[in-house]
Amino acid sequence: MASHKYNNDLLVDRRDIISAILKSVGRNEQGYRAGRRGGRRHGRIFKPRFLHWVLLLALLLFLCFAVFGTKLDIHGNVENSLPLLVEGHEQFPGSDFVTPPRKGDFVAPPWKGDFVAPPRKGNFVAPPRKGDFVVPPRKGKRKQHFPCEVQFSALVDDILEPKDYMNLTQFSLEYIDKEEKPSGANLFEPRFGGHQTHEKREQSFYARNQTIHCGLVKAPQGFPSTGFELSENDKEYMSTCQVVVSSCIFGNSDFLRRPTSKMISEFSKKNVCFVMFMDEDTLSKLSSEGHTPDERGNIGLWRIVVVRNLPYLDMRKTGKVPKFLSHRLFPSSRYSIWIDSKMRLNADPMLIIEFFLWRMKAEYAISSHYDRRCVWEEVLQNKRLNKYNHTAIDEQFAFYKSDGLKKFDLSDQNTSLPSYVPEGSFIIRAHTPMSNLFSCLWFNEVDRFTSRDQLSFAYTYLKLRRMNPDKPFYLNMFKDCQRRALAKLFHHRTEPSSPPPP
Ligand SMILES: *[C@@H]1O[C@H](CO)[C@@H](O)[C@H](O)[C@H]1NC(C)=O
Ligand SMILES: *[C@@H]1O[C@H](CO)[C@@H](O)[C@H](O)[C@H]1NC(C)=O
Ligand SMILES: *[C@@H]1O[C@H](CO)[C@@H](O)[C@H](O)[C@H]1NC(C)=O
Ligand SMILES: *[C@@H]1O[C@H](CO)[C@@H](O)[C@H](O)[C@H]1NC(C)=O
Repeated sequence: MASHKYNNDLLVDRRDIISAILKSVGRNEQGYRAGRRGGRRHGRIFKPRFLHWVLLLALLLFLCFAVFGTKLDIHGNVENSLPLLVEGHEQFPGSDFVTPPRKGDFVAPPWKGDFVAPPRKGNFVAPPRKGDFVVPPRKGKRKQHFPCEVQFSALVDDILEPKDYMNLTQFSLEYIDKEEKPSGANLFEPRFGGHQTHEKREQSFYARNQTIHCGLVKAPQGFPSTGFELSENDKEYMSTCQVVVSSCIFGNSDFLRRPTSKMISEFSKKNVCFVMFMDEDTLSKLSSEGHTPDERGNIGLWRIVVVRNLPYLDMRKTGKVPKFLSHRLFPSSRYSIWIDSKMRLNADPMLIIEFFLWRMKAEYAISSHYDRRCVWEEVLQNKRLNKYNHTAIDEQFAFYKSDGLKKFDLSDQNTSLPSYVPEGSFIIRAHTPMSNLFSCLWFNEVDRFTSRDQLSFAYTYLKLRRMNPDKPFYLNMFKDCQRRALAKLFHHRTEPSSPPPP
């Protein structure tokens, strides 16, 4: 299926090449006709010349197929031959990006199935924001995206946490650690996310002293564990971390990308915990490929933390545990950076924290999506690419609309976000009460509904703001091109398993 699509794209491209050649030959055909009009006496000369052209054309075609054809057909070698990243949710092994295309470089056709449909009437189309570098899309091609400059401080030694930075909105948040079996209930199935009633859910949005659901809910005595089990040794290590960079690979979905060592300061190497969560299968796969943890449990800068008994069948959902709950998993941490395993960290974590949080006076930083700004669009795209059970997406979306989610409106002076759709592969957080509350609320949405967190981001943020009008939450939604400057993007090894669409 996918390879059909892929070959079609290839054909389209080859057709382009062929038609370009035909055009140039066409010009010469004009010349031929003109010559003919000029007189019959050259007829003899023209006939062999026409044959020349046919032969030349055949040769050119052959060369085109030989050069472009082989380059594309050997998937394993695509990585080095493509100068561009053509990003989408559908990923392909290999395929780096960073450098903008140079003149004469070959531009890759869109990857399997990731066709961006032209906007239909009534669909929202986001105009590019100032500073976003957008290459005009070619017909039927995906937009190309490039990094833009992030003005980091020169040296980690020069930066200091601002004095009154951490005294943002203050309250005390506690988390439900364990649920008991309700008396009288016969059927009780412990859940990692717990059993939150609608009423409790509503209450949980208030920024005030309270105890809320936030994953890691333990089962009562005598019941099976709710999962996400870590070794005591790892827990002890994690409890010492103050600043964390974390990532995860569940279900062999990615290769291991080590942070670019020369971009990481000695200070960060010594003081920042780099933790890669993975399941046992992924670790044995990596080991079989020659990546084995050393005696400290590290592969390069990454400390490998094995998670046993995954809490969800959907690997993507399991991936949301380390993504959203770093303040729970690292109880003494003050800052955390989440990086999706499809990316290689390419900048120093302390410089990242300084730029995106301290300098911007923010407690939570996430990038906006490179294409989409409206949840309506995101829903369509998720269905179009069969990202998840459509019924489940519809239920979630209908619920959000009934609870006040509106279309993104750029002209709305009151809008508090530059986009309602995030690109959540890179998140920078201070572990302040508001930031922790937001993380828990967002996690609870993913636990309750689909694992597609782009669908729940704006709803969660806007509801939190709505319910706490006098308690600011300092969120910095930065540009996608800046995200691209922090990390090098790769394609996933495979798509992690998720419940099949109906
Ligand atoms: C933070 O602390 C500073 C100095 O202690 C104070 O001036 C400022 O008003 C505080 N800000 C908040 C939001 O509490
Ligand atoms: C909230 O909790 C903090 C710390 O535990 C406490 O100092 C404060 O008085 C509490 N606020 C309210 C309104 O109960
Ligand atoms: C899709 O989601 C709906 C609603 O959540 C559920 O009833 C149905 O069983 C799901 N279908 C599949 C194939 O998982
Ligand atoms: C923007 O907010 C102000 C004050 O909260 C309100 O009066 C106004 O109606 C809002 N405008 C829109 C377009 O929602």
